[in-house]
Amino acid sequence: MACKMHKTMIAFSILWSLYKGSLSAKYKVVSAPSVVAALGSDVLLPALLTPEKNGEKMEIRWFKPMYQPYVHLYINGKDDYTAQMPQFANRTELLKENITRGIFPLIIRNVTVLDSGNYYCYVESTDHHSMATVDLIVIAVGSPPVISTITDDTVFCESRGWYPEPYLIWTDNEGNKVMPSMEKVLKDEKSLYHILSAIYMPPTSSNITCTVSSSLNQSKQSSRQIRETRHPVTCRDLYSRYIVFWPCLVVILMLLGCICFLLKRPGC
Ligand SMILES: *[C@@H]1O[C@H](CO)[C@@H](O)[C@H](O)[C@H]1NC(C)=O
Ligand SMILES: *[C@@H]1O[C@H](CO)[C@@H](O)[C@H](O)[C@H]1NC(C)=O
Ligand SMILES: *[C@@H]1O[C@H](CO)[C@@H](O)[C@H](O)[C@H]1NC(C)=O
Ligand SMILES: *[C@@H]1O[C@H](CO)[C@@H](O)[C@H](O)[C@H]1NC(C)=O
Ligand SMILES: *[C@@H]1O[C@H](CO)[C@@H](O)[C@H](O)[C@H]1NC(C)=O
Repeated sequence: MACKMHKTMIAFSILWSLYKGSLSAKYKVVSAPSVVAALGSDVLLPALLTPEKNGEKMEIRWFKPMYQPYVHLYINGKDDYTAQMPQFANRTELLKENITRGIFPLIIRNVTVLDSGNYYCYVESTDHHSMATVDLIVIAVGSPPVISTITDDTVFCESRGWYPEPYLIWTDNEGNKVMPSMEKVLKDEKSLYHILSAIYMPPTSSNITCTVSSSLNQSKQSSRQIRETRHPVTCRDLYSRYIVFWPCLVVILMLLGCICFLLKRPGC
């Protein structure tokens, strides 16, 4: 009986140590949901292990969209560039200063539009693995819009160098939207957007404003006077017209009276 009890206790303690072992091996890689970077800048994609764990002996693989070729690989204690995507050649660096504390962010230098999208950070050790995803959002703020009048009744606006795709809004003196008669969005050789738009001149506005914005709250605006400012008719104008009008009327009536008088005279 005592022997049976003893065996059960041994079995239990073995299970317990296995459970504790598996617990200690478990970790999770954590990154950020998304990171925003300006075109041409250097970006840091965060990566850390929780609970804190030494990552020196682990395989750390950043990839997008496929496992291989990869964006960056750290394996057997060093960086391995043999199957790196050519797009990232000489532009990545895994910061290892705090790798023993499980912190190993990736730097991507001189970010391009093609770099945008999801990145996966896959971490593997002898007994466990984990993966995190981060969305890199690359933005480019384009040139200030240029407004031109090509024909008498049409105004054009154009702006280049945007990413992601921008939208354009025309507004008149009072801030009312003006609907475009034509709009085009093109992509240049660097995958940046070029937007152009045209409107028919609003009959009552002297100034027109063209605002180009991207989805990330970045915008550029230009205004231009499209015709001489028309002073609206005021009460004062009306008053001064009356002041001129009445004496004129009196003079005209007097003249008419004279003419009439002169014409009638021979008949008398
Ligand atoms: C990367 O850098 C090395 C040396 O610094 C250079 O020889 C190589 O041409 C560079 N590759 C690219 C794609 O820029
Ligand atoms: C490493 O950690 C220290 C202290 O938290 C911090 O000051 C330093 O910037 C970190 N280095 C990197 C490359 O993240
Ligand atoms: C950044 O990349 C662009 C092309 O994508 C290149 O023309 C430019 O020289 C690069 N700048 C640096 C500092 O490497
Ligand atoms: C954009 O900026 C305006 C003010 O500058 C702010 O009120 C608004 O919440 C911002 N929108 C986004 C999506 O960030
Ligand atoms: C119209 O534009 C001119 C110069 O561009 C500016 O001085 C003026 O204040 C604008 N007027 C209105 C009503 O926006």
